Amino acid sequence: HRVGTGSAHGKIILLGEHTVVYGMPAIAIPMPDLRVDAVAYQRAPIGSPYIDPAPRRPDTELIRTVHIDPGGDDASGDSIGTAAHALLRILGYPAHPVDVVVRCAVPPGRGLGASAACALAAVRALADHLDHPLPPETLRRAAQRGEDLAHGTASGIDAAACLADGPIWFEAGWVRPLTCPARARIVVADTGIPGSTSVAVAHVRTRLGVESDWARKQLITAAALTRLAADDLATGALSALGRHCLASHALLSELGVSCQALDRLVTAAVDAGAPGAKLTGGGLGGCMIALAEDIPHADRVAAALERAGAVRIWTIPFGAAA
Ligand code: MEV
Repeated sequence: HRVGTGSAHGKIILLGEHTVVYGMPAIAIPMPDLRVDAVAYQRAPIGSPYIDPAPRRPDTELIRTVHIDPGGDDASGDSIGTAAHALLRILGYPAHPVDVVVRCAVPPGRGLGASAACALAAVRALADHLDHPLPPETLRRAAQRGEDLAHGTASGIDAAACLADGPIWFEAGWVRPLTCPARARIVVADTGIPGSTSVAVAHVRTRLGVESDWARKQLITAAALTRLAADDLATGALSALGRHCLASHALLSELGVSCQALDRLVTAAVDAGAPGAKLTGGGLGGCMIALAEDIPHADRVAAALERAGAVRIWTIPFGAAA
């Protein structure tokens, strides 16, 4: 069997984080330059010299090796191992032990889809190693098993977005591609504070239990904003999109999943002329996004975010159509 390779990329959520957990819609956009690469290969016998078959990239941050034995159960307890074993249950186990090495340039715990991208890259590499080309739907299903472990009740949007070529509409497990304004950019800024998606999701769930009418109304209003944003994207109405992003940030903040660092960056982006800004992903740390009209505008917003304390900044187009 050959050395199998697989890759995936990070993502941001434009609008709809948290509401998407309850079957409401969300819009996600890939970050194609934030990549995860994985290789899967037959494990060398014990005592043989170690030869690293994995391609190295200078920007990769996280390296994980998962060992898989023929017919074995998943003992890894991590999302990559769970996803890999889920795939092998679908395909039938290999006749030999396999190692999967994952190298990840997506910073973990920042709401950028690191765990989903790692799981996807791993299952792609495994399928390639076993010479078993698979439809995206099967890859997504296997990666989702890992996500369920990593995030508790994951909506599935991360696995869908980390596999997508362009912006997507995601609703109750269904994916539809979207087209977006051509020149506009999204500036993504990292607070440097790790945020746990499962803690943030549990927090919203608690509020739904304790203040059910109020919290449900917040979620329904947030979902309405996501629908308006899809219209804004279709018509290229960036300032309306910006207003809807700001309203979404306010709702998420009232639900308790923002934090001082995120609020500070949102204010800095707006002060620098961004039509809108908000937290992205689970919140409670992690990243925020700001809209910009074009690349020079994105540079100005990025500079303001850096001054306001962002530790890392990326500028991405709205997608394949850009
Ligand atoms: C994940 O990027 C965003 C959340 O909505 C969780 C999920 O959808 O599984 C907070």
